[in-house]
Amino acid sequence: MKNFEVYNQWNIEPVRGSGCKLWDKNGVEYLDLYGGHAVISIGHAHPHYVAAITQQLHDLAFYSNAVQCGLRDRLAEKLGAISGYPHYRLFLCNSGAEANENAIKLASFHTGKKKLIAFKGAFHGRTSGVVTATDNPSIIAPYNESPNVVFLPLNDSALVEKELAAGDVAGVIIEGIQGVAGIVLPTDGFLQDLRELCSKYGATLIVDEVQSGYGRTGKFFAHQYAAIEPDLITVAKGMGNGFPVSGVLIAPHIEPVKGMLGTTFGGNHLACAAALAVLDVIEKENLIDKAAALGNYVMSSLKNATVIRELRGRGLMIGVELHPEHAALRTKMLSEHKIFTGSAGANVIRLLPPLTVTEQELQRFVQVINE
Ligand SMILES: Cc1ncc(COP(=O)(O)O)c(C=O)c1O
Repeated sequence: MKNFEVYNQWNIEPVRGSGCKLWDKNGVEYLDLYGGHAVISIGHAHPHYVAAITQQLHDLAFYSNAVQCGLRDRLAEKLGAISGYPHYRLFLCNSGAEANENAIKLASFHTGKKKLIAFKGAFHGRTSGVVTATDNPSIIAPYNESPNVVFLPLNDSALVEKELAAGDVAGVIIEGIQGVAGIVLPTDGFLQDLRELCSKYGATLIVDEVQSGYGRTGKFFAHQYAAIEPDLITVAKGMGNGFPVSGVLIAPHIEPVKGMLGTTFGGNHLACAAALAVLDVIEKENLIDKAAALGNYVMSSLKNATVIRELRGRGLMIGVELHPEHAALRTKMLSEHKIFTGSAGANVIRLLPPLTVTEQELQRFVQVINE
């Protein structure tokens, strides 16, 4: 059997990683400023993470949600404390799309309504339900076309209010910062308006922090810059540093009903051990403040670069939009300079490094851009 080829791939096979470094099968070293789509939060092969998962593997890798699991309780407690949401509840699952599926389902159960507002440029995942809230018709199969989702422009509160006023909207879903669109920020004022409007019209505010969460932006969640509390917050990617684990943080006014949500693998022992180890490291190594400081370093170091059309982002979630004539820099970054970065469209470089990255490592990127 062969793999079902659905990806464009670089001709590189990484076989080993440590911190922000990767080595391919020929021994060539790379600097990883992408973390495999923002997944590697605490660095490759972090010793505390390796030890925690290894120990858990020896103890108990898996049992179902039908039994008590102290690890799961500890994870919920620790995540609540570090993220500033100790009063919320946590539902654990396995991927970003799955977290958003569950959040949308909860919004609909809770309100008894079926419409969803999403935003132009949004990416919320590829599974059947949530792909309908992803603004990319080329990945929506005929089966998934839905009359229940309306896409509105980002940062236009008046249009959101007009749509909500019809009274049939279950939820509004928005990324803390749009990632796949090329690091596009909702304004703080817009997020505050969404909070107010959702409360006014009885809709659920869902903030997708799958890419922008877990300390990446210099706060635990990007929406915390706007000082709002969504009803539902989704997390994945950096949560497990590569171990598949995701979750929905659920506001206390949304009551759990038995059978409302469910999963076989979600919240399993290994996943909880991985997610707890990630939070330990974020806390011990002060990675959230570091992300804020290093983000400022990159932004200020690049502000006069002539190849850049626009610099966007917060903390270590940075979009470098190049003038179109310099778009090739994106591929040269990897082929010539051995630096992994992400992309969005033809000429945006996405920087999503492990939060353990050092200033010296970021300097290599800055130098290439400036020179
Ligand atoms: C904001 C956002 N939401 C959801 C997803 C989907 O996550 P997953 O690929 O883990 O299903 C992604 C993936 O890139 C994302 O960036």
